[in-house]
Amino acid sequence: MTTSSFPLLLLLSLLPFSYSHLHKLKFTNSRLLHSDTDGDDTTSPTTYFEVTRPIPVPTTQPCSHLLLQHDFAYTYSKPPVTSSYTPPSCLTQTPSRIVLEWNATCKGRQYDRIFGVWLGGVELLRSCTAEPRATGIVWTVQKDVTKYSSLFFEESTFAVYLGNLVDSTYTGVYHVNVSLYFYFESDKLHQQDEQDNVPAFQFPADLLLPISRNLPLNDGLWFLIQNSTDIQTKELTIPSNAYRAVVEVYISFHSDDEFWYSNPPNDYISENNLTGVPGNGPFREVTIRLDGDVVGSVWPFTVIYTGGINPLLWRPITGIGSFNLPSYNIEITPFLGRLLDGKPHTFGFGVTNALDVWFVDANLHLWLDQKSSKTEGNLLKYEAPAYIPRTISKFYGLDGKFKINAQRRISSAGWVESSYGQFTFNFSQELHFQNFMEFSDNASTQLVRQTIESTYSTYVRNPYGVVYTEQVHHTFPLYIYTSTADVVQDNSTLATNITLGFDQKWSIGEKPELEFGFGFLTNIQNAHGDLKYSGNSITGGIGSTEEVYDYEGTDGCYFRNVSSSNYTILYDLTKDFCF
Ligand SMILES: *[C@@H]1O[C@H](CO)[C@@H](O)[C@H](O)[C@H]1NC(C)=O
Ligand SMILES: *[C@@H]1O[C@H](CO)[C@@H](O)[C@H](O)[C@H]1NC(C)=O
Ligand SMILES: *[C@@H]1O[C@H](CO)[C@@H](O)[C@H](O)[C@H]1NC(C)=O
Ligand SMILES: *[C@@H]1O[C@H](CO)[C@@H](O)[C@H](O)[C@H]1NC(C)=O
Ligand SMILES: *[C@@H]1O[C@H](CO)[C@@H](O)[C@H](O)[C@H]1NC(C)=O
Ligand SMILES: *[C@@H]1O[C@H](CO)[C@@H](O)[C@H](O)[C@H]1NC(C)=O
Ligand SMILES: *[C@@H]1O[C@H](CO)[C@@H](O)[C@H](O)[C@H]1NC(C)=O
Ligand SMILES: *[C@@H]1O[C@H](CO)[C@@H](O)[C@H](O)[C@H]1NC(C)=O
Ligand SMILES: *[C@@H]1O[C@H](CO)[C@@H](O)[C@H](O)[C@H]1NC(C)=O
Ligand SMILES: *[C@@H]1O[C@H](CO)[C@@H](O)[C@H](O)[C@H]1NC(C)=O
Repeated sequence: MTTSSFPLLLLLSLLPFSYSHLHKLKFTNSRLLHSDTDGDDTTSPTTYFEVTRPIPVPTTQPCSHLLLQHDFAYTYSKPPVTSSYTPPSCLTQTPSRIVLEWNATCKGRQYDRIFGVWLGGVELLRSCTAEPRATGIVWTVQKDVTKYSSLFFEESTFAVYLGNLVDSTYTGVYHVNVSLYFYFESDKLHQQDEQDNVPAFQFPADLLLPISRNLPLNDGLWFLIQNSTDIQTKELTIPSNAYRAVVEVYISFHSDDEFWYSNPPNDYISENNLTGVPGNGPFREVTIRLDGDVVGSVWPFTVIYTGGINPLLWRPITGIGSFNLPSYNIEITPFLGRLLDGKPHTFGFGVTNALDVWFVDANLHLWLDQKSSKTEGNLLKYEAPAYIPRTISKFYGLDGKFKINAQRRISSAGWVESSYGQFTFNFSQELHFQNFMEFSDNASTQLVRQTIESTYSTYVRNPYGVVYTEQVHHTFPLYIYTSTADVVQDNSTLATNITLGFDQKWSIGEKPELEFGFGFLTNIQNAHGDLKYSGNSITGGIGSTEEVYDYEGTDGCYFRNVSSSNYTILYDLTKDFCF
């Protein structure tokens, strides 16, 4: 068979920094890269961006602090780049907002590279670099890191791992500055809480503990998960006066699982004698384990990196989440009773159906009782029933249809007693997954239609009623159509349509009669592309993307409707007020 007529999505997977894979294509992992002749030398660098709401900051002048300035050249499998962090002298009070800023430039030819940013082993940002062009590119990522406030008051080590490869073909060096901006304004709420002896259940937490790998090492601080049975763990001892605990998980997927949502089931691969095609079907689950028990689960957002599927689509509007991958909060307070014994406990991560490789780590957010050295707690209820994804498979030769459904509910409840009194925490997760996949035209065309829906809820009660709630509902729609054709030997075309959505509804309530916040985001990208390629080089084509981002919340509104085609912005409408 002419292997290059197989749907390209299956061929594009490549560990973004895996050198051994760079030059292969046929039925092995490879991906397309733009030739370095693109762009005209007289043009200035192109600014790439991810559409997102600008971080609302106080109007006061921030205090800025440079964390790192570095040129990432040949950094693959080298130690992370580090700098020592000393709290800046302006940090004399708790900032009301802290913004992390990543600025980078690059020129030449280079793949997209995943990178992680850590302070004291706590992950602050998981991101992907933009693919450069000959005339250069520039981009900025700003992230609200206020929830990590407690970290910035301690001396520690700042670390960035960005595994890049530079040689005569892949010439792009990433020039990077990373900075922090601290904003101050009087924080009345916090002071009032202290006076009333009311616990602060909302972020930021008092202490952050990393659930990541320790320096020194020649890689990122994330754990590498290579298959379904690979459980990566770390032992931690929790301060005995904690009264709330949340595990925040960072996740990215690469190489054979970069496009996991498009992987066919194994029987399809084996009956067609296919080799080098990543399988295990399209369902993945990241499990969070405490002393071996699955206490939470993440059915992750399908981030498409900046070189994914058709790289021309993501220039200059990059894929949703690609510059700032989402993290996921798992409430483990119901289990706190177990953890307050002053002994080490095992935190672990697994990925159901994983293929090599997933990068997973987490931050443990802990709220501490300042008036007591010992809190107590007990688990009341814990349910994480086993579930089986249902697969309906119908194929003949290379053409066929597959439908995969899964749903899961995990819930826990437990009380914690501190100097603030006794509070019962209920945490639950409702997860739904649906994937329809079709191969046609002798598998030169692939269609994927997937929806992931999840609701995470936390309720906190005292004997008189609910005192605090947090709810997040996510819907991740995904539609991918790819069709390849061989024009002449080794010269092929790829047509692509993609719809990628990240929808969120959230609500939070502290003493409901006093304040209640809620909001929703609908963020959808529609992308179309046609390209010509030879080997793994793009030789021509066009890519266009439209995105509508609509956020409305009690903390403000933001709307943007923007479209690009081949590096040119066609229209860009922004509104930053509510109606
Ligand atoms: C479909 O592809 C297979 C493998 O490449 C090839 O052997 C077969 O002849 C093709 N069938 C048709 C109808 O083109
Ligand atoms: C980063 O880029 C932004 C946007 O261009 C700019 O305003 C800011 O000054 C830059 N910061 C650093 C430290 O280079
Ligand atoms: C980093 O900061 C230096 C010094 O301010 C500046 O010259 C350089 O352009 C910055 N680079 C980026 C990528 O922002
Ligand atoms: C799964 O991955 C682990 C860690 O790399 C490895 O030790 C183990 O042999 C793998 N298991 C299988 C079945 O491949
Ligand atoms: C797969 O290989 C087996 C054993 O060589 C052969 O009998 C079968 O016909 C092959 N199937 C296809 C679809 O090529
Ligand atoms: C919280 O958990 C308790 C203990 O199992 C249970 O009685 C109660 O119904 C739960 N509440 C909610 C809202 O799930
Ligand atoms: C195939 O692609 C190569 C590389 O772009 C090009 O040099 C060659 O002319 C193409 N062949 C045909 C027949 O179009
Ligand atoms: C792909 O997008 C084009 C342009 O919007 C549209 O005409 C075509 O019907 C779409 N095809 C599929 C299969 O999604
Ligand atoms: C779009 O960009 C590609 C790559 O730079 C180029 O080959 C192609 O000619 C461009 N197409 C249009 C219509 O501008
Ligand atoms: C976005 O702008 C385009 C072009 O003006 C328009 O056709 C489209 O309806 C707009 N979409 C929304 C949701 O406002």
